[in-house]
Amino acid sequence: MAQKRVLSGIRATGRLHLGNYLGAVKGMLALQDDPTYETFYMVADLHTLTTPYDPKSLKKDVREVVLDYLAAGLDPEKSTIFVQSQVPDHVELSYLFSTVISLARMQHLPTYKEKVKQYPESSTVALLYYPVLMAADILVYKAEAVPVGIDQEPHLEITREIARKMNSAYSLDLPEPKRFATKGEYIPSLTGEGKMSKSVEGSFINLTDDLDTIKSKLAKVPTDSGKGDEIPERGGVAVLLTLVDLFEGEGKKKEYKQRYLGEGIKYSELKDKLAEAIFEELKPVQERRKKYEENPELVDKIMNEGAEKARKVARETLQEVKGAMGL
Ligand code: TRP
Repeated sequence: MAQKRVLSGIRATGRLHLGNYLGAVKGMLALQDDPTYETFYMVADLHTLTTPYDPKSLKKDVREVVLDYLAAGLDPEKSTIFVQSQVPDHVELSYLFSTVISLARMQHLPTYKEKVKQYPESSTVALLYYPVLMAADILVYKAEAVPVGIDQEPHLEITREIARKMNSAYSLDLPEPKRFATKGEYIPSLTGEGKMSKSVEGSFINLTDDLDTIKSKLAKVPTDSGKGDEIPERGGVAVLLTLVDLFEGEGKKKEYKQRYLGEGIKYSELKDKLAEAIFEELKPVQERRKKYEENPELVDKIMNEGAEKARKVARETLQEVKGAMGL
């Protein structure tokens, strides 16, 4: 039986944080270890250009994500690891896709509207086009599963719509990919408002943070008196309980919930224990990162071989689509 393909990517906006790790990378790892899947994992450097960025540091930022991937356990023996801009077929296919999706559909996407609000000066065509390129990223590999956070669901919806339209207009057989969800598909911000995000200062813990840094970040999470009649579902306390669940287990979370309704939680203790549990999981990741940092030639080789493998598959789909469209 042919393996099903998987594609995922993360933008190159610096080092990965727990939100990326729990929402996307953990799913990438699970699928990489499942022999029924062939996995392609990229750094979405072209998507990075849609919001303000520094061209002088982009190469380095891309490499940081590759290092974080390898550190987290993505294995070049099992997964094709590459950089999006090194496979130009994505862009070519995205142009072809843009002929079947309406402007109005793109303008009404909540993800687009949010970004325009966040960066009013960069309301560019590229930003509007973001999901079309993402659809091409996925469909150029005919990927059926996409491990990403829940915030990406509207983009997957567009991807499926494009696949359906292309299939019916040009008799193609592009799959309608599904999101592969992880338990940590939504990680709230440490500030207690919104999601953990690179662009919000004080909202995230990086995979490279040491124990002291994690402790001081958790120390700033806003809390309450530690007891009440109802467990908070929003705000800092909810964030802490989410992280306890993910790093210390459901049992521990239940215990804290009971304490909240009874004698009360001592947050300094909770935060210390949680910081240790998070660091415990990050320690091997940081050790692996060091090994790759010390071997830049190996990282170059992994990126080059990954791009080459990706291009082979991508070219096939592109040729097929171009042929079907009469080009
Ligand atoms: N939009 C994704 C994010 O912000 C990044 C991305 C780009 C992506 N292309 C992709 C994710 C293709 C999955 C598949 O996280």
